[in-house]
Amino acid sequence: MCGIFGYIGPSAAAPLLISGLRRLEYRGYDSAGIAVINGDLDIYKKVGMVKELENILPATVKGNIGIAHTRWATHGGVTDANSHPHASEDGKVALVHNGIIENANALRNQLRKRGIVLKSETDSEVLVHMINLEYQSGAAPLTAVRRTLRRARGTWGICVIFLEHEKIICARNGSPLVIGIGEKETFIASDPHALTSHTQKVIYLEDGELAVLTAGDVKTSRNSGKIVDPTIHILDDDWGESELGDYPHYMIKEIHEQPDALRQCITGRINLSDGTGRLGGLRLSPKKLQAIPHVRLIACGTALNAALVGRLLIEKLARVPSLAHVASEFRYNDPVIDAKGLYFVVSQSGETADTLSAVKEIQTKGGTVMGVINVVGSSIARQCGAGAYIHSGPEQAVASTKAFTNMVAALTLFAIQIGRSRTLSRQNGRALVKGLREIPEQMGKYLSNQGPIMEAVEIIKEAKSVLFLGRGISSPVAREGALKLMELAYIPCLAYPSGEMKHGPIALLEEGSPVVVICPNDELKPKVLSAIHECKARGAKIILICEEGDEIAAEADVSICVPNTDPLLSPMLTVLPLQLIAYHTALELGLNVDRPRNLAKSVTVE
Ligand code: M6R
Repeated sequence: MCGIFGYIGPSAAAPLLISGLRRLEYRGYDSAGIAVINGDLDIYKKVGMVKELENILPATVKGNIGIAHTRWATHGGVTDANSHPHASEDGKVALVHNGIIENANALRNQLRKRGIVLKSETDSEVLVHMINLEYQSGAAPLTAVRRTLRRARGTWGICVIFLEHEKIICARNGSPLVIGIGEKETFIASDPHALTSHTQKVIYLEDGELAVLTAGDVKTSRNSGKIVDPTIHILDDDWGESELGDYPHYMIKEIHEQPDALRQCITGRINLSDGTGRLGGLRLSPKKLQAIPHVRLIACGTALNAALVGRLLIEKLARVPSLAHVASEFRYNDPVIDAKGLYFVVSQSGETADTLSAVKEIQTKGGTVMGVINVVGSSIARQCGAGAYIHSGPEQAVASTKAFTNMVAALTLFAIQIGRSRTLSRQNGRALVKGLREIPEQMGKYLSNQGPIMEAVEIIKEAKSVLFLGRGISSPVAREGALKLMELAYIPCLAYPSGEMKHGPIALLEEGSPVVVICPNDELKPKVLSAIHECKARGAKIILICEEGDEIAAEADVSICVPNTDPLLSPMLTVLPLQLIAYHTALELGLNVDRPRNLAKSVTVE
């Protein structure tokens, strides 16, 4: 989604802004722009990729102060005019904005009445004109921004530059901004990933805060004017740039990174002799775990699918009622929050606006919420204050893969941990943690011999739609397979618990319809087999994900086998062929696998 980068210091700003934008490209965007103080306020913006913006930059952009933006359209079409930065009419103030100004229409009308002509359809542009009006009336830059934001409703991460001042003013409310402190130079970005090649020293701006950046110095304050003493964090080296290496795309690289990523997630979190898992960051003793009356997990997209696996495991292993919720619905359904319950939010980026809103809703109502998060220091991780990092390392492809398997692994560890505080025996706990320890190797084994993926792709690539079926713990895996194929190959996909298929989706089946069935060797297999027969009777082509050596393989048109494991651990293996099917289908169709259309890596608007 939209990205921000800014620089003030002794170096030429433009090349740094461009390289900063490149680091934000993985988030997904449709246009890009920069503004640099270079005698005048020079603004260049262009629909398309950062390299297209780079192509229109003259060599004469020499200034040392600048702001830059990648836009993912929300208000107004994908046009050069709607791209950021936006400038005041006199060209003395420029702004980039992430987030949504909810009262933009009312503010536009007020500006029009004052004779101001807006050049774009965006909500963001109103801010720059309002700031300039305050500035023209004599307010200092910080005051002009502060007064403007008091009249705005919505979410923002903004950076503003003034032609007549050597500073960048930033403000955050619901849209992340991180300040990077270098030697006599200062950076700002919406994502710490963009800062790591310049500095490891960062300040996370909090909601309701503003910052004045000068070369090598930062002053932060609240919107009320109160000065804030910022905390300096040191970024983890692991969050440096992740290179493609020999891989053609980030997605396939990240699929292959899953064995190592999983090792990172579970190392130090397994106690084999007690047969338990331990997520230390939760700070929950067995006594506390025993008292938890129910668990709720809240997330979006792939993280929601992982949460759906997690909730089944928690209920099964600990006999604690457990539910997963769609984050975008959660807050608006006015949920009852039980202060004794345990709430988890699950997120790769830790920046998803819907999930962050759910955290705030739970906290406002007195609940305890913990994060299961990948990006260290992200907004959700910091807002929760406690939780478990999943340690997948940087995930750059828009389609989430290694984060899914690590979210499932972290939630499996938690399910075992809470299970052991209750009904799960040491023996059963040991069997599970032993099985979990073997998964990375089993993943590697499968990835080095992937089975007839391309045969499955042949059946799927021209299909009008694809049905994914699974039952029990494989039902969320079916959802994940459908999500992956839909977002990458743009093929309409339906995912259903296989028993529910006959209550509706069966109507879609005709000769040749592809049906992907996930069927590990568990007690539900006979039921899934019935669903396979029902599909075959209607001419459907069955692509089956099953376990090695299982005779059910003979029932399908294409069978892809994964190594044997405990059925409760199977999602971490059965999902692998589904990721590969989505990847190779998109490639066969000539699509951009790492940056599918309309999607963003971290969805920072509601
Ligand atoms: O960063 P998050 O895990 O909170 O993101 C949630 C979803 O936006 C994300 O999983 C999305 O569905 C992915 N594109 C799936 O591949």
